[in-house]
Amino acid sequence: MALWGGRFSRSTADDVFALSRSIHFDWKLAPYDIRSSLAHLYILESAALISESNARKIRLALKELNQEVASGSFLPLPEDEDVHSALERGLVEKLGEIGGALRAGRSRYDQVATDLRLFALDHMTNLAHLLSALSRTLLGKAADYVDSPAPGFTHLQHAQPIIFAHELSKHAHALNRDVDRIKDWYERTNFSPLGSGALSGSSLPLDPATSAALLGFAAPIANSIDAVSDRDFVAEALFIMALVGSHLSRMGEEWCLWASTEFAWAHLDDAFSTGSSIMPQKKNPDIAELARGKAGRLIGNLTAVLAMLKGLPFAYNRDLQEDKEPLFDSFETLELILPAFTGMVATTKFDKVKMLAGADSGFSLATEIADFLVRAGVPFANAHEAAGKCVHACETQGKKLHELSDAEFAAIHSELSPKVRDVLTVEGAVKSRSTVNGTAPSSVFTQISILTSKIDQDDQWITDKSASFSGMMGL
Ligand code: ARG
Repeated sequence: MALWGGRFSRSTADDVFALSRSIHFDWKLAPYDIRSSLAHLYILESAALISESNARKIRLALKELNQEVASGSFLPLPEDEDVHSALERGLVEKLGEIGGALRAGRSRYDQVATDLRLFALDHMTNLAHLLSALSRTLLGKAADYVDSPAPGFTHLQHAQPIIFAHELSKHAHALNRDVDRIKDWYERTNFSPLGSGALSGSSLPLDPATSAALLGFAAPIANSIDAVSDRDFVAEALFIMALVGSHLSRMGEEWCLWASTEFAWAHLDDAFSTGSSIMPQKKNPDIAELARGKAGRLIGNLTAVLAMLKGLPFAYNRDLQEDKEPLFDSFETLELILPAFTGMVATTKFDKVKMLAGADSGFSLATEIADFLVRAGVPFANAHEAAGKCVHACETQGKKLHELSDAEFAAIHSELSPKVRDVLTVEGAVKSRSTVNGTAPSSVFTQISILTSKIDQDDQWITDKSASFSGMMGL
């Protein structure tokens, strides 16, 4: 059903209608559109612009429509342009011409901006929940490896031994920052465009503060031109999701490496890996690879919206319709990958023996020699030089650091007494790194419990927001 046409003498060309249509992607806004219509109806009724009896009929019809949309018995038709016109058709089919009464004081510009904010707030809350679930799973897995040393890397070369729990839980910290970003975004986004009309507000005695409150928004957006034109919340949400994608891609890359035959640290569960159609022996980390690959489209969606917004005149322009597909796609992508990724993490088993065996290779204890000398009063530059000479002596003779003789140590530096061998064990090295953020098992244990309490608080926030959303307007 067209929502305009009075001043036109010919109908839209088919090709134009095909280009203009958004129903095939914006139908997912239907429940949010009905919510915002209920709030708008309340405002019109309060201002005596719709009679009480008509308002009752429209309210009932909207609630019926809501159920029919949910059950799939009300569907868009090929001639519906967008979600707003399809739902208005639904109301007119039920009520005749009073179905059109909701158009008073509202344009599709404030309507679509309101619907999209509600959609984004709802889905971002769910995303925070999925991220917290993955963080918890990582921390739960980390707890199994608090006493398990492994090589730590820089430049993908053995650097210093670490506790494997430290390695796993670092990802939970990154994901928790994403949750913080969502909470921060939420507070900035939770304002209502409804009541802004096409761009200049309304000459009707409407009260945008009431419709904002009914929809769970903190307040109306202060400037009506900004309200209908602003898509910062879309760009920011897409940035957060692009960064989540980047975090998942780095995690995915580690899982691929760790599951490789060369590393053989990680054993993937059969239910969370895939085979090859030609090589019967293969067990591939496809979930980790897809997580890594999907970062590309998440970054692309952000780029698409930023490019669309650049230089866009105010107020509404049809370009803004291009905000939806990237936003929907990013949510769908993460809502698909995160549960699978969480399942993969939960079911991966790591080989403690293999990880320990590699922990002191590649002279990863050389820093211990330098720190030993620093404790004996040697300036770090000299200590570093002496430790480097130890590595060089070992390399030329095919020895490990602790295998250098007392005489060889003493020849390299007078402070290198035989006691240096006490620090040349993996267990000693990790245990000594007991700074608050360090890799000592006691430190890692504390880090995990602090982050777990933080996630408990975040989950409370998520529960509160989801409850206020689903309780809204009794729908
Ligand atoms: N579908 C549009 C959007 O997503 C809203 C409707 C504006 N339509 C119009 N013909 N001006 O932004």
